[in-house]
Amino acid sequence: MRASGNRLTREQARELLAKLESTLSGSRGKDSREAIVRFLNSMVPSYSWVGIYTVDAKDLVLDAWSGPSATEHTRIPIGKGVCGFAAKAGKTEIVSDVSKDPRYLQCFLSTKSEIVVPITNQGAVVGEIDIDGDQLDAFSSLDREFLEAVARKASSIWV
Ligand code: SME
Repeated sequence: MRASGNRLTREQARELLAKLESTLSGSRGKDSREAIVRFLNSMVPSYSWVGIYTVDAKDLVLDAWSGPSATEHTRIPIGKGVCGFAAKAGKTEIVSDVSKDPRYLQCFLSTKSEIVVPITNQGAVVGEIDIDGDQLDAFSSLDREFLEAVARKASSIWV
């Protein structure tokens, strides 16, 4: 779809959202989240590792992931790490250089940048999409817009 290391274009984002709709057709709940992480990881070369966490009381729990290896961070207290910060704030976080962000909890040595997008339902955070990139500054405001649209889709088929 695009050369590795290049950022997403608006045209590609539009195409991907349409493809995701058809990929998900009819699926809901955990099945849909498994499908979303597989789709994002396989279709967007800069999305090196893709996970969806769900909120369980005061923690985020890893529900679905796709990437080269598993993370040890399968439960993250809300407020901890970039993931916990985004969940607490209810706002997308883009970290262009994880080595410079004191909040960052390391999962993979290869990770250079990260984006975390909350998934909300009626104003409450119910989960989030967490993506690691192997390039510095891998995520733009277009990734934010695209992934916020994916998060709205995930929310609409959450259970
Ligand atoms: N880096 C995240 C932890 C999750 S792993 O990236 C999969 C953080 O700082 O919260």
